[in-house]
Amino acid sequence: MQTRTVQSRMDTEQSMSAPTGSDADAWWRSAVVYQIYPRSFSDLSGDGVGDLAGIIDKLGYLELLGVDAVWLSPIMRSPMADHGYDVSDPRDIDPLFGDLATFDELVRSAHDRDIRVTMDLVPNHTSDQHPWFTDALRSGPGSAARARYIFADGRGPDGSTPPNNWTSVFGGSAWSRIRESDGTPGQWYLHLFAPEQPDLNWENPEVLADLQATMRFWLDRGVDGFRIDVAHGMAKPEGLPDMAESVEILRHTDDDPRFNNEGVHDIHRSIRSVMDEYPGTFNVGEVWVSSPEEFAKYVRSDELHLGFNFALATVDFDAAQIREAVDTSLAATASVGAVPTWTLSNHDVPREVSRYAPDGDLATGISRARAMIMFELALPGTAFIYNGAELGLPDVDLPDDALVDPVWENSGYTDRGRDGCRVPLPWEGDEPPFGFSSTGDTWLPMPAAWRPLTVEAQLEDIYSTLSLYRQAIELRYARLEFSGDTVQWYGAPDGCLAFRRPGGLICALNASDQPVPLPPGQILLVSTPLEKGLLAPNAAAWLV
Ligand code: GLC
Repeated sequence: MQTRTVQSRMDTEQSMSAPTGSDADAWWRSAVVYQIYPRSFSDLSGDGVGDLAGIIDKLGYLELLGVDAVWLSPIMRSPMADHGYDVSDPRDIDPLFGDLATFDELVRSAHDRDIRVTMDLVPNHTSDQHPWFTDALRSGPGSAARARYIFADGRGPDGSTPPNNWTSVFGGSAWSRIRESDGTPGQWYLHLFAPEQPDLNWENPEVLADLQATMRFWLDRGVDGFRIDVAHGMAKPEGLPDMAESVEILRHTDDDPRFNNEGVHDIHRSIRSVMDEYPGTFNVGEVWVSSPEEFAKYVRSDELHLGFNFALATVDFDAAQIREAVDTSLAATASVGAVPTWTLSNHDVPREVSRYAPDGDLATGISRARAMIMFELALPGTAFIYNGAELGLPDVDLPDDALVDPVWENSGYTDRGRDGCRVPLPWEGDEPPFGFSSTGDTWLPMPAAWRPLTVEAQLEDIYSTLSLYRQAIELRYARLEFSGDTVQWYGAPDGCLAFRRPGGLICALNASDQPVPLPPGQILLVSTPLEKGLLAPNAAAWLV
């Protein structure tokens, strides 16, 4: 096992006399962060939904996997209209997941195993059940309570047309009309996501003050950082102008007035000032912007520590596209001296095994996903892994009546949403629920075909995807060849890529359909056995 020591933040704090801000050797700069989608990770209470006690129960597994930190998708109080991304009390744990005492135990036990704990923060919106919003509904137009959200009168003589033409990311209008307390049709409120997720008004200083209180609440409990939801949202443009007709409903583009407004950067500076009170912590923002220049702005030295970079999660298994994604990402972060990040998937996008499967050929999908995790882990910067990727899980094609993602309903049943990548993890045994829960009635049904993919089935098999992840993470941690901030590309056969890190690591990826010769060097790890000494199609190798 690896021996790593998490230097306690308290120790660091005590020894800090110099000003903060030197992140030069911060732990998160080359960390492997494992995203836990708590509903789907491990259910100890037996209600079919994962919980904090389930996570504590599996910390030994995470230690074996070798990750440096976990990121927990939201666990705060929520009516669960968007499975936790609709928060009704940001400073408490939802009873579905446990309570504050269990959370404290989770942080303690994770730290005992040298695993840091980071959690989601949802600053763009609250739940419609948040006391602020229920108060806003009760209070009249122009009240202080309404000023915490974005309320506006409708257009047209009777105000029955929404204030502008914005669409919700989940489909339909981004505005819903309320009834005033006397029962008459009233103002409209903005929700860039589901109607149950009203957008906060970030022009109101109370909103920032409350977020800062929330941050301190969790940081004081020992949390090591945050993932900031919709970090490119929050600020809205003056006058809320209509969006161009050309803006596609569900896509965020850089000329989309709903997102990436300049004012967001001041908000990030204010968030950063709280993080700087807690040395050793970091925040990573969900930044869905297309232009590298715009992305770079979010990770300037006084804003987010890291930007969650979807580049590798959105390109095909294609050498030219992958190289372009890497070059663009590295140039963007280098332009502001920030650390690059990488991921192949998260809870919002299809799993890589399915994305890479030509015509549903999952065997090819798995080979490519194995190659790509080696490619990702060979890159400089912080690597994110979405729970279940280490088992090679594909998306599940769920029946209509099992779908619970609000996207399904809000899109008028045209977009099946994200449930396919959120099916609970298979741990052991021969049939669903595969040790995830004691009930077979799991919140999303688990496929019987996952029997060979359980943790139990893969742990002892040195050729399993789980074993590949373990070896790759361990090598990345232990070998000095993984050092250096840059990649130097080698000439490579058509459809292939090869790069070298300054420390000496060479990573070769064969995205062509022919076996190819390896670059010279001693092999550290391959994702698929060599074919007569050649790197097989859909495979990667590390050499030194
Ligand atoms: C982010 C989350 C997503 C959620 C949305 C609204 O994109 O990752 O899961 O639905 O924000 O909070």
